[in-house]
Amino acid sequence: MTQLLRAKITALGTYVPPRLLTNADLEKMVETNDQWILERTGIRQRHIVEKGVGTSDLAVEAAKIALAQRGISPSDLDAIIVGTVTPDMFFPSTACLVQHKLGAKNIWGFDLSAACSAFVYALQTGAQFIQTGTHKKVLVIGADVMSSIIDYTDRATCIIFGDGAGAVLLEPSQDDSVGLIDFIHEVDGSGGCFLNMPGGGSLNPSTHETVDKKMHFVHQDGGAVFKFAVRKMAEACDTLLQRNGLKGSDIQAFIPHQANQRIITATADRLGMNPESIILNIDRFGNTTAATIPLAMQTAVDEGKLHQGDLVLLASVGAGFTVGATLLRWAF
Ligand code: UT7
Repeated sequence: MTQLLRAKITALGTYVPPRLLTNADLEKMVETNDQWILERTGIRQRHIVEKGVGTSDLAVEAAKIALAQRGISPSDLDAIIVGTVTPDMFFPSTACLVQHKLGAKNIWGFDLSAACSAFVYALQTGAQFIQTGTHKKVLVIGADVMSSIIDYTDRATCIIFGDGAGAVLLEPSQDDSVGLIDFIHEVDGSGGCFLNMPGGGSLNPSTHETVDKKMHFVHQDGGAVFKFAVRKMAEACDTLLQRNGLKGSDIQAFIPHQANQRIITATADRLGMNPESIILNIDRFGNTTAATIPLAMQTAVDEGKLHQGDLVLLASVGAGFTVGATLLRWAF
């Protein structure tokens, strides 16, 4: 078999809308309090869009930063993959909207739906095109406007989510010292009932009745998702580490999906990770679904915790259920 190339991340761009929704703001909207939110989730504030701003707008801002960082133009790209559960609309895909807004010519792209695991799934999907040599530059974006599907009278969900976007550029690696090493993905559709948005699709097209029943909002059984997330995030990471001959303490940057600080610390404890390797920014952004991992990559860069050659572990659990973990060496 022909030797596959290795894909590496060569640029990173992130964007969050300027408007803040703090715990104090939420105290005025639902029966909750800052102390409960902070203790149970680790969240202090989230960024949310103004009316009229869609997921493609956030994705484009993140994409522009990544392209500028690498010094390339949009038409240098071969493909754009957008992971999202909040596309601007069902179709055209957000990838088409982003391509058009960027002014990228002669490229293709598509959306990928895997909820909170969408970024790691899109990353590996993009990497396949690099590894086979058919593509040289793939832009992978995780972007969500969760505020568009949240019921701000439901305290079980409205305190968790925020809006944001992150983009990474994937290119072939010239040598094996940096780049994507290995991954594990798993879906378990039996968990679909615990976290979903039941209205607006082909099964329950939007009607006055679906809107009255609030079926166009996120519905979550938080406890069930929490238990699955703690178990599966640790299990996926452990399998990935073991089969690469590594221990949790070998990881320099653990960059997990930011859904709940307690899920992250429980996973890191089970894996025996060094506390300083855990990247956390949930306090500032909340759960931005597909955007959490690139936003956390940016936090790691900003905090000086990510250097060329560092061993990085990405991990996520999300609606579906979807599970993903990626092992890589940081490339820049
Ligand atoms: O990214 C997608 C994947 N999603 C996740 O990973 C989310 C996983 N789940 C979670 O993060 C947590 O389950 C939540 C943060 C959603 C909820 O935390 P919890 O510790 O599981 O709380 P709970 O739902 O078991 O509720 C505990 C108590 C209840 O009161 P009683 O019955 O003990 O009197 C709730 O009514 O806390 C109450 N409660 C609240 N109190 C103040 C629930 N939500 C709130 C709230 N403010 N916002």
